[in-house]
Amino acid sequence: MELKFSDRINRTAMSLTMQIAQRAIELRAEGEDIVDFSVGEPDFPTPENIKNAAIKALERNLTKYTVNTGIVELRKAIADKLERDNGLFYSADEIIVSNGAKQCVYNAIQATVAEDDDVLIPAPYYVSYPEMVKLAGGNPVFINTSIESGFKLTPELLESSLTPKTKMLILCNPSNPTGSVFHENELGALKDVLRMGNYLILTDEIYEKIIFDNIHFESVASLGDEIKKRTIVVNGHSKAYSMTGWRIGYAAADRNIINAMSKVQSHSTSNASTISQYAALEALTGPQDSVEIMRREFERRRDFLYKELNSIEGIKTTKPEGAFYIFPDVLNYIGKKFNGKAINDIFEFSFFLLNVARVVVVPGIAFGNQNCIRISFSTSMERLEEGIKRIKNALEMLV
Ligand SMILES: Cc1ncc(COP(=O)(O)O)c(C=O)c1O
Repeated sequence: MELKFSDRINRTAMSLTMQIAQRAIELRAEGEDIVDFSVGEPDFPTPENIKNAAIKALERNLTKYTVNTGIVELRKAIADKLERDNGLFYSADEIIVSNGAKQCVYNAIQATVAEDDDVLIPAPYYVSYPEMVKLAGGNPVFINTSIESGFKLTPELLESSLTPKTKMLILCNPSNPTGSVFHENELGALKDVLRMGNYLILTDEIYEKIIFDNIHFESVASLGDEIKKRTIVVNGHSKAYSMTGWRIGYAAADRNIINAMSKVQSHSTSNASTISQYAALEALTGPQDSVEIMRREFERRRDFLYKELNSIEGIKTTKPEGAFYIFPDVLNYIGKKFNGKAINDIFEFSFFLLNVARVVVVPGIAFGNQNCIRISFSTSMERLEEGIKRIKNALEMLV
């Protein structure tokens, strides 16, 4: 019998970066020293107080199912956080705790996007958004942003992309992969267009705590009650508290939206890990100094990388204001030759860096961009220095 997969699955792509990751694994197995700039998680251990809270939960036998949307203490702590940090008022029943921010985005899309609905996604985008939209039967519609506007969505671009079919706009702020952050005045400028129509706004704020240059973070949901009602705020513990493996994310939105998301979750995974929920409660209510220590270290690395990359002829890059990625444009090197063989696109360029410099980067095409590579600075300063040195040497071999 020939197994037939659903149209939804056939429309969904596997990760484009798998081939590069696979080659890196092979090279490592051969004993090669590979510098990995493709990492998507903080390189710090989870803070001690959070780990101890999990141990305590185990000792107290808090190891059973919880209510589907998460323990009420955690949802209240999330509501307090949203009020304290973002000036947003939500009650505990307007919040859902999920297995990572990723599941929140997935739940939100499954709950609201119908067959053939359009979902606007500014590009470059986080890899999973378009595939999640396709899994729900919707159409991802890309809005290409440019390096000149710092890869930020502008009111003009948004207005010209809106149609009666627009069901949702997905914003990633701060952005993976570009590190861009909307300043208050830029969000203010978007406000009028965000109020046009009745579409939902999903704002993924998972990198909120990793922001540089003293920029004040503002959530899209704080742009007024009318916008807040249509907005789903997604955040989580993975990046701020270095808790990627604990799988805790959360969403806040209108009660009806949260109820619909809860239905999706109740029939798929049920509650997020109970032990992780108690650890997440400690993360939000305990000391916050480790968050600032990590943030400062990311900023130091950002400064180093920005300076180094800018000193390489033919590379241009925006200065990331958040997250732990830099997204340099290397278009000048596409078409150049290595050992007589042309590098034809960004994918081949990334392969060249792996094969010659022994550095893993993610080609921009994975995020809907043909000209850039994503370099993660979630790795030690020593490795960043080594990687940059290798990249410089490799680029000098291109003619
Ligand atoms: C923009 C963005 N959203 C969501 C996630 C997923 O986070 P979580 O670990 O909370 O599922 C990531 C992880 O890389 C991300 O970069």
